[in-house]
Amino acid sequence: MNVINNIRQLRSWSSINKGTRCVFVPTMGALHDGHATLIRAAREIAGQNGNVAVSIFVNPLQFGPGEDFGKYPRTLVEDLALARDNGADMIFAPKAEELFPADRSIVLRETSLSQFLCGASRPGHFDGVCTVVTKLFNLVQCDDAVFGKKDYQQFAIIRRLVRDLDFNVVLHGIETVREADGLAMSSRNRYLNDEERAQAPAIRAALVAARDAWKNGERDPAVLPALITRHLQEHAPLGRIDYVSAVDANSLQAVSATTELVVIAAAVFFGTTRLIDNIELK
Ligand code: PAF
Repeated sequence: MNVINNIRQLRSWSSINKGTRCVFVPTMGALHDGHATLIRAAREIAGQNGNVAVSIFVNPLQFGPGEDFGKYPRTLVEDLALARDNGADMIFAPKAEELFPADRSIVLRETSLSQFLCGASRPGHFDGVCTVVTKLFNLVQCDDAVFGKKDYQQFAIIRRLVRDLDFNVVLHGIETVREADGLAMSSRNRYLNDEERAQAPAIRAALVAARDAWKNGERDPAVLPALITRHLQEHAPLGRIDYVSAVDANSLQAVSATTELVVIAAAVFFGTTRLIDNIELK
């Protein structure tokens, strides 16, 4: 496995590997089993002859003031081992100065899908994601890219980015990997104290209860979030709901007559830790 931390080496890796299918997994490190699943999926897509590239970069642009950029876990040594064990061929782990010159002056702005859900609570977050993903796609020159569907809105926005900026990259969304008690795996779970950790699986349980109600015929997009809120108040009193919303899975806007798939997305704070999860209604 090649470990590369500057753009010059990356370009030379890309030119040596020109013509070989490259499947890319962008990450911010602190890798866990969810990432391992993404890397294994990438390995499968790349096949024996392709390359799996993983980036590890805590992107300062996607953290707002007062968010956890400073304390975001950085575990490079363990990350390299996990990536290698799950089939990565190349790791790109640049320093911030390598990707972002101090006088950089070009920004990307997403103006529609990022106005709701997490985007409403984290202004500028998805612009930061779009900017870094654009740079990483340009640098890694991948044919495919793999993202987790836990970050449902992020995946929808990256689909839009690829479409609107004509990236020649095929996107693959991978189902959320969960702890045995249902909690979606996240690098941020390690911030939870014991009590919070014990209550956090209620997010998944509430989403499943809403999906069950939907399966039993409940179609009112306002009733389902209300049911989730009640469930969380009862089973996760330490949780503070940021939002719970049932929306069109493509547009992330209100469910309408043309909606083909509904997703319920939720963000819940435990202390200062913000956890997200979602469920598709099908
Ligand atoms: O999902 C993440 O870990 C990040 O948002 C991403 C896509 C690597 C961009 O920094």
